[in-house]
Amino acid sequence: MASSLLIRNISTLAGILSSPYSFKKGKAMSILETIHKAFLLIENERIADFGPMELCPSRADHYLDVEGSFVLPAWNDSHTHIVFPATRESEFLDKVKGLSYAEIAAKGGGILNSAKRMDGMPENILVDEAMKRISEMVGFGTGAIEIKSGYGLSFENEIKMLRVIRKLKELSPVEIKATFLGAHALPESYKSNRKAYIREITDKMIPYIHAEKLADYVDVFCDKGFFTPSETKIILEAGYKYGLKAKIHANELDFSGGVQVGVSHHAISVDHLEFTGDAEIEALKKSNTIPTILPTTAFFLKLHYAPARKMIDNGLGVALASDYNPGSSPSGNMPFVLSLASIYMGMLPEESINAATINGAYAMEMQDQTGSITKGKLANLIITKPLSSLALIPYHFGNNPVQKTIIKGRIFSE
Ligand code: NIG
Ligand code: FE
Repeated sequence: MASSLLIRNISTLAGILSSPYSFKKGKAMSILETIHKAFLLIENERIADFGPMELCPSRADHYLDVEGSFVLPAWNDSHTHIVFPATRESEFLDKVKGLSYAEIAAKGGGILNSAKRMDGMPENILVDEAMKRISEMVGFGTGAIEIKSGYGLSFENEIKMLRVIRKLKELSPVEIKATFLGAHALPESYKSNRKAYIREITDKMIPYIHAEKLADYVDVFCDKGFFTPSETKIILEAGYKYGLKAKIHANELDFSGGVQVGVSHHAISVDHLEFTGDAEIEALKKSNTIPTILPTTAFFLKLHYAPARKMIDNGLGVALASDYNPGSSPSGNMPFVLSLASIYMGMLPEESINAATINGAYAMEMQDQTGSITKGKLANLIITKPLSSLALIPYHFGNNPVQKTIIKGRIFSE
């Protein structure tokens, strides 16, 4: 049913792009176009018009007066693992006692622990639990997300996870992209035969996923102790053969060669990047691959943060995402992601907002649909609580600045 919603008296409308954009790089990341005292008109789920209050239309079906509030594009969280069978707070306690992520993984914890619990877990419970996480994320202003498999690690359970994600696409108000991450960790039963598991992925899982249209992307955890660049290459090539572009985990635990293998295979994004030096930056500069930084993971695992400032100063664009998962980032709180980006990585509020909106959309190939205030794009918006300036978002860490999230024109309150 056609219907219009007019948002009036916006203190500052921010994140305007007059034409579609791919993603913001380098100095452009610090520019966030704004209009003070603005209106925005939504028609049929999309942004129909916006401008200064003097030009505000007089009629609409519904009105929202938002005196004192900022309006921004909703966050696009391009890297999550929100389908999981159980939280892992016992490992958190191991971590508090001093064990590292790698040590916990070596003890049979980590990803393998989640995979064990995935066995026999009914799909409807996985759907219900993930839906709760999505509604939590919407409360923090998220309007589109990517979700990975990777806690199955067997044909049956990986496919189950992807079916759950397909169900979430149907049920959830947010737009979702699905990523197949069969190569998240080597299952116990393949310990002495890595090649056989990789063959299972390339010859069995990927062709089936393609035939059933279960995923949009393929991912590999290309890192020390997980998968090597040459194994990653084999999996990415199989993915491309079946129409799955790459979005990969790289350089979280070491200079793994993951960035280079991602770039050479035209990955949409390479994610994590705590270990990034000049060679990685040079490789990224020559590509259209977007580095995606996950600062809540560095926070939770006490890793050193990815050098986002250096990347941006070298002319790169970066995206920010939550990595919401039970092991290394049990939170989908994007405003907190922005706080960490400012505090530990020297990103300005404008840069982190661009990273979490238009650049996050690019990292899911959704930049034509969302990520900016542009006529014709989906009305995916954040209405903040009254704020004195945008810097309040990263400054007031742990606080939720979001009053309402609008997704395709529908209003969700905190
Ligand atoms: O992105 N780095 C690999 N995978 C996840 C962690 C998953 C887990 O520990 O359950 C991540 O951090
Ligand atoms: Fe991840």
